[in-house]
Amino acid sequence: MEIAAIAGRAPVIPVLTIERAADAAPLARALVKGGLPVLEVTLRTDAALEALRLIAAEVRDAVVGAGTVLNAEHLKQARQAGAQFVVSPGCTPALALAVKASGTPFLPGVQTVSEAMALMEQGFRVLKFFPADMSGGLGWLKAVAAPLAGLRFCPTGGVNAETAPAYLALGNVACVGGSWVAPKEAVAAGDWARIERLAAAAAGLKRP
Ligand code: 3PG
Repeated sequence: MEIAAIAGRAPVIPVLTIERAADAAPLARALVKGGLPVLEVTLRTDAALEALRLIAAEVRDAVVGAGTVLNAEHLKQARQAGAQFVVSPGCTPALALAVKASGTPFLPGVQTVSEAMALMEQGFRVLKFFPADMSGGLGWLKAVAAPLAGLRFCPTGGVNAETAPAYLALGNVACVGGSWVAPKEAVAAGDWARIERLAAAAAGLKRP
């Protein structure tokens, strides 16, 4: 699957920072059941790779990717764990090369027009805009729509249930990413019903 197709599967990509591997499969199931099949597991915890592996192996309808992929070593670990796509908060030439060589669908992060242009030169058309809220948010995306026509973005970072609809209304937004659909306390309490409800609300958000 190409990254554009993955981004097109649902309006919201939950960004998951999983502390206990045992939470991974029930959390993923709740999100998928709520209507959000595309999941990003950040490589920021000791449990992250095992969580990825468990979701890839046990949650059939999930499309699971790895987030916070900063270098070729992270990429290798993520692929070995079963990641179907990878996401980075920014990008370097070395990372872009490694991901391209691996053939893994990739959502590279940008914060500026020049970073977006550099990735465009390399053939990337769908980019993560990060950290969206504090880097200009909606205004930035509207301002770059004409000069960076042909690019689509997945704004992530500070996006929540209240602000997601306005992002999703923009023509150059493919989907949004965010952690709000899997609140820390709900995961810690194993409140999968609450997470399924949050996912269902997010899955119902409309794109133009
Ligand atoms: C990310 O890694 O993309 C962000 O931490 C997610 O941002 P949020 O927690 O503000 O949604």
